Amino acid sequence: MSIALEPLPFPPYRELGNDELNARISAAKQELGSRLLILGHHYQQDEVIAHADLNGDSYQLSKMAADSQDCRSIVFCGVHFMAETADILVNRPEKLEERNGHRVGVVLPDMAAGCSMADMAAIRQVESAWKQLGEVIDTEDLTPVTYINSAASLKAFCGRHGGIVCTSSNAKAVLEWSFAQRKRVFFFPDQHLGRNTSLKMGITNDQMPVWNPHEEEHGGNTEQAIRDSRVILWKGHCSVHQMFQADHVQSFRKNHPGIKILVHPECPQEVNDIADISGSTSKIIETVRAAPAGTKWAIGTELHLVNRLKKEHPEQEIHFLSPLVCMCATMYRIDLAHLCWSVENLVQGTIVNQIIVREEIAKWSLVALERMLKVSK
Ligand code: 13P
Ligand code: SF4
Repeated sequence: MSIALEPLPFPPYRELGNDELNARISAAKQELGSRLLILGHHYQQDEVIAHADLNGDSYQLSKMAADSQDCRSIVFCGVHFMAETADILVNRPEKLEERNGHRVGVVLPDMAAGCSMADMAAIRQVESAWKQLGEVIDTEDLTPVTYINSAASLKAFCGRHGGIVCTSSNAKAVLEWSFAQRKRVFFFPDQHLGRNTSLKMGITNDQMPVWNPHEEEHGGNTEQAIRDSRVILWKGHCSVHQMFQADHVQSFRKNHPGIKILVHPECPQEVNDIADISGSTSKIIETVRAAPAGTKWAIGTELHLVNRLKKEHPEQEIHFLSPLVCMCATMYRIDLAHLCWSVENLVQGTIVNQIIVREEIAKWSLVALERMLKVSK
């Protein structure tokens, strides 16, 4: 199979209607059979999810990539960091050996599907922060923890420095593991997941300084605040989940007595603290599935998932928590046209938009990812 280094001509696909795109994707899938695995994150639009072989949250998708058996290509309907994680796990040394060196091609149908949160922490900023922290505290006492929503270079940094990766499904278990190794944690890039999880473990806000990578001195903190810290939080956030506000919760409680508030832990603390339930996208789905008919929900997570839950559960009353449209614009870049283009190229023997993590980065990222997979099987 050849690897296309230049993007292939895309325009003809945009002109096709959904019926034709659906038919062509189905035909390509049939032709490729078990050689192709399409993975879809829960935030994808319904048309795309309809073609996914497996759906999941970030943790489940990384497990699926790690466990995949006989596929030769993975088309990842998610965002860039997810495709990187899939490449690292599916092409780890023992898997390559089992396949006699054959690399599974991991495809991101649109290279513009990034993550604004992941972009808030660059490796040079993390390295500079680590060095500055080392001037105040002993970094041998500090476990670096990166949310999976980060570039592979940050995962590799954690691998090299005795650290670990977490997802929103296993953040508490990962923090417990981290505190069993060392007395402090450096958590990046999502301050909200780090703070909300730590608060549940009895750590207080005054033990959690926020490191602002744009501040010259100690991320904007005093040396004393760093010495007193248990968790140092990176000043990053998800642009989708930070839009949910405590006012939205109060307004639903006032206007819909008995309503339950269900949110993702990437939401700010003031929302997370007053919600009835907080959990990863899978936990949100499972909670709604398990609820009796007639349950009323206001859900604070990405719009496409909430709309899908509404359709799947007409027996319940489901509202979107914000009056604004909170959708992940980058996930939304993956559409039927890009999916069709990717899979038809695979049929022709060409891998377009392949995500390949450099060997050294992949090696150390794998160390941090395997620690995570061991902590929460
Ligand atoms: P989970 O899939 O871990 O719930 O995270 C949500 C998210 O923001 C993915 O980018
Ligand atoms: Fe990134 Fe937020 Fe989109 Fe997830 S929902 S991919 S964290 S911007």
